[in-house]
Amino acid sequence: MSQASDLQRIAQLRQEIRRHDELYHRQAKPEIGDAEYDLLKRELADLEAAHPELPSEDSPSMAVGDDRVEGFASYRHLLPMQSLDNTYSKDEFFAFVARVAKGLEVEQALFTVEPKIDGVAVSLTYERGKLIRAVTRGNGVEGDDITANVAFIKTLPRELKGPNLPRLIEIRGEIFMRDEEFDRLNAERIEGGLEPFKNPRNLAAGTVKMLDREEVAKRQLDIMLYGLGDCQPAVVSSQSEYHDQLKTWGLPVVERFWTVEGPERAWAAIEELEAAKAKFPYPTDGAVIKLDSFDQQDVLGATSKAPRWAIAYKFAAEQAETVLKRISIQIGRTGVLTPVAELEPVQLAGTTVSRATLHNQEEMARKDVREGDSVLIEKAGEIIPAVVRVVMEKRPAESGPFSFPAKCPACDTEVSKVEGEVAVRCLNIECPDQVRGRLEHFASRQCLDIEGLGEAVVDQLVAKGIVSTISDIYRLEYEQLLGLEKFAEKSARNLLAAIETSKGVELWRLLHGLGIPQVGASAAKDLAKAFGSVAAIASASLESLVAVDGIGEKTASGIVAYFADEGNRAVIDSLFQAGMAPVVPVRPSEEEAVLAGKTFVITGTLPRMKRDEAKELIESKGGKVSGSVSKKTDYLLAGEAAGSKLAKAESLGVEVVSEAELLRMVTVE
Ligand code: IVH
Repeated sequence: MSQASDLQRIAQLRQEIRRHDELYHRQAKPEIGDAEYDLLKRELADLEAAHPELPSEDSPSMAVGDDRVEGFASYRHLLPMQSLDNTYSKDEFFAFVARVAKGLEVEQALFTVEPKIDGVAVSLTYERGKLIRAVTRGNGVEGDDITANVAFIKTLPRELKGPNLPRLIEIRGEIFMRDEEFDRLNAERIEGGLEPFKNPRNLAAGTVKMLDREEVAKRQLDIMLYGLGDCQPAVVSSQSEYHDQLKTWGLPVVERFWTVEGPERAWAAIEELEAAKAKFPYPTDGAVIKLDSFDQQDVLGATSKAPRWAIAYKFAAEQAETVLKRISIQIGRTGVLTPVAELEPVQLAGTTVSRATLHNQEEMARKDVREGDSVLIEKAGEIIPAVVRVVMEKRPAESGPFSFPAKCPACDTEVSKVEGEVAVRCLNIECPDQVRGRLEHFASRQCLDIEGLGEAVVDQLVAKGIVSTISDIYRLEYEQLLGLEKFAEKSARNLLAAIETSKGVELWRLLHGLGIPQVGASAAKDLAKAFGSVAAIASASLESLVAVDGIGEKTASGIVAYFADEGNRAVIDSLFQAGMAPVVPVRPSEEEAVLAGKTFVITGTLPRMKRDEAKELIESKGGKVSGSVSKKTDYLLAGEAAGSKLAKAESLGVEVVSEAELLRMVTVE
């Protein structure tokens, strides 16, 4: 390439990489996958190497990224948090092992091979065994103090178990989200008509950087520790010892790591790891190979970006190529139209895939996906198969762009695009696909849990015109059920019994099952607890709904609009006429609930109780514990070294109580 075009490409790559750095590190909304990003970085590094005359200090090829955002205090790491060199090639991995041996002047070196967790890097400082701070990597030198958010991670001990505790230690690891939790949160979002989160890594990264502590508390994060920063005094001398030590201190650690000598054994360990990674509870995007001995690590040292004694071998995301036979449109229970790729079945990451999501109209147009195209599919975040791109070279000559339907394919009603949403919706409440979706949702495990009323039965009941609203379920008759496919006396009786039992369901399940916009399981629980009946919620004002912890303005207006609709009210009346009688279990008993309706925030070190114990006590007396001080806080329970929360409570006029005062409050005379 000519000199001028090289320079042009370097400038272009630098700009592009900077943009992706910002999207990934600061916004947790990457537009491209790791492999694509790594390719851009490598192209830039190669071009820069060919042009040593160009200044490169400011180039993103020299940077480690920076995750710091507004709203968090900055904290300087005692030892910098470095990045890792990475490779996708076996040859390059062997070259690394040879380089290490040469640098150490040994025949073969001892390495550990461990999973590379695809999460968010964090450095925890423990002083005399007590967790005092959690900080993000930031720019490697200084990061954001996220202690308050990390406090919600249930699997992280605040105190290490001895013996062998150093006075001060920086323990590094990765915060991540389990797939089940990711699915649970997405199911709630979809129900609420919100766009689902893209993948667990981005969601974990976004969550640790949230200022809204109540929201953080609702999302369960997890953590794994594997790395060492500063340690005073030193207590271990190798990576393998360190893993064992972390475990005895009671910290969550990777379930498996390998200690191996030489390149062949290390490679075999990488292959074993790749085969085993599906069983790990965290997303694993590669293997990290580290020189085991800390002394040997010191001999090799580091470049400005990464240590010379470690490398990440990244696994290629599993992709498969297949033919997209047809694009179908699915209509969800809230009327959202989702384009789905119907594929020539293909094997991918151990399963046969015949459908993949195309997300929405905009996304489909951006990728210019057409029927008949050859497409690459991938498990996004290793969960939902998605179409990554079209293999343009294989596009059939006669193909034309897909025209997104202007009418709902299920009921022929014109579809509309709601302001501020990417989704296109069918607004016909009687649309048969929506009716089916609503009924299936109502009967599902997370709602009324009516056994025997699954998709196949609902389809038949709707097709035969026997059921069209949720209240019709409670008027089903034995003879009608006998007329259904695969129904005999016993199955009909069982279903009727399950329907009868569901009348005494917990209130939050009924609320969830109604399909009120934005109301997923957790909002339903908050509403049930605050109001105690459907009637009370139906007549609640916008203000009183917003006053409930966990209910925002958007949800509140969704609720008001839902109950203002005559059709919805009629269905609910009819449900109650049919004998629906939801219950609200009272826990604890009324007289013990001396803190009912009171919200506490806990800060500082309490003289006798651990924070968890104080939280448990408050909750056992009917109170609630929240993570941050706001106007809705009733009491700040403050111990020693209370910091910014105390100042905030004082400025808002929130009453501050001590441990002793709390104990007095809960002691019934
Ligand atoms: S060691 C100085 N080990 O991957 C070496 N990093 O792409 C520091 N990561 O910055 C890193 N799993 O956030 C190490 N087992 C593991 C890891 C791991 C995930 C992350 C870490 C690192 C990034 C580099």
